[in-house]
Amino acid sequence: MTDHNETDVLVIGSGIAGLASALAAAREGADVTVATKATRPEGASSWWAQGGIAIARDDPEQFEADILEASSDTADPDAVSALVEDANEAVEDVLLSTLDVSFDTDGEAAPESSDGDFDFGREAAHSEDRILHVDASTGRHIHIPFLNYLEDHDDVTVRDDTAALELIRHEGRVHGAVLESGGDFEPTYAGAVVLATGGIGDLYPHSTNPAGSTGDGVAMAALAGADVTDMEYVQFHPTVCVDDGSPFLVSEAVRGEGAVLRNGDGERFMFDYHEDAELAPRDVVARAVKTERDATGEVLLDVSPLDFAGEFPGLVEKCEDHDVDWADGIPVAPAEHFLCGGVSVDEHGRTSLDRLYAVGECARTGVHGANRLASTSLLEGLVWGLRAGEDAAGKEIDVIEAPELLERDPELPERFAEEKFHRLRRVMDEYVGLERDADDLGRAMSVLRRLKGEVDAYTRTRTSRSLYELRAASITALLIARQAAENEESVGCHHLVETSPDGGDRTPEPRADD
Ligand code: SIN
Repeated sequence: MTDHNETDVLVIGSGIAGLASALAAAREGADVTVATKATRPEGASSWWAQGGIAIARDDPEQFEADILEASSDTADPDAVSALVEDANEAVEDVLLSTLDVSFDTDGEAAPESSDGDFDFGREAAHSEDRILHVDASTGRHIHIPFLNYLEDHDDVTVRDDTAALELIRHEGRVHGAVLESGGDFEPTYAGAVVLATGGIGDLYPHSTNPAGSTGDGVAMAALAGADVTDMEYVQFHPTVCVDDGSPFLVSEAVRGEGAVLRNGDGERFMFDYHEDAELAPRDVVARAVKTERDATGEVLLDVSPLDFAGEFPGLVEKCEDHDVDWADGIPVAPAEHFLCGGVSVDEHGRTSLDRLYAVGECARTGVHGANRLASTSLLEGLVWGLRAGEDAAGKEIDVIEAPELLERDPELPERFAEEKFHRLRRVMDEYVGLERDADDLGRAMSVLRRLKGEVDAYTRTRTSRSLYELRAASITALLIARQAAENEESVGCHHLVETSPDGGDRTPEPRADD
């Protein structure tokens, strides 16, 4: 056996779900390695979370009802109950007692057993104020203390700039992963592996995710034979400022505080689409914003009904960085935001493969169904991370034969990857976006199959991180397109429209810049 590493629990990814898994496993006495592609905290999606983290407060039944309703009753009620049952305690234990996160306060009642007075926020489809937040930059106020805490932990090693390329598996059991760091490849054996690789933003031209969100965990799990479900439910956020080519999220919390959407004619239009207007479910608002942009040229988020500068200083700064004059309205469009499906897991984050767990955005817990309720993703990551980490600890490490990855000519694949990514994003944008039809999904699949074939041919002879990211993206994109084509029910994020009457082949032609 060549050089290798061993660890009780290998966590792949460093967002809130991965860090919660590491914490829980270490609390069980495990030696934990967190391998993350990120080189800075901003590399994890959790850092970017704005709105906050919803808790049950003293009405868990209503919280469950809101999650189910936002999902159009497609969420799994048992998974929703598990989330809500653990919510207050997980937040109290990890975020308040362990990490001492300073959520905004204003004299409101606190969650059970805490003595804080929190300023609970509200977002779309929540029937009460239950979101803990720090301004609209909650993610970084959780993520940074969490990383610092674990970096100081004796039983946890955080390896940044380290990618997982392939799982090591044998007969339905996962034994570790091949990691790449600085161009070197090294098998890392573990008693259990927890996938916490985040989202799929790199599959679309505009996304709220950090770069590198290529669906690595979903693809590695699928290649190893794990069940992957609900991939068609890709959530688009309705209010993303995309004007200067570097998109930034404008939190739903801003609409929760009273901001309204106006079309290019200055009209407030959301009541034409839903009785809850700007606070309608996210998929409804996203499609309405797209329709109005197509019809009138632009949609602006009018923040004049609230004290925007006082309540959202972080967003004011963002607008200024991007030369957006927010007082005239913030130009917004929908952009890819969150994958509701992923690697299928049970209530402890266990996948269909032995010793393989998945948590956070790459997992399909059943909590979100076809449409995720705002500010439940950090909570899901925290709750399932803790559950999975606890379960993953205490398993024996077996050192078996690792897949052999070849290292050759990394230059060519870098350029190759760039071109293929460009094609993949165009296909996903045109055919597998906010609205889908059967013909377009068929076209997407045929382009993506070809693309995956080309990428597979390269990965047989070369190895580089970007090539493996492209492979992950092409596998994940194909899973999304295929599962979208298989689901004939138009619900939540999977919105089907009539097949375009002209029928013909609309495969995107290569452009001069392709
Ligand atoms: C937002 O702040 O609008 C995003 C919150 C979420 O996606 O849960």
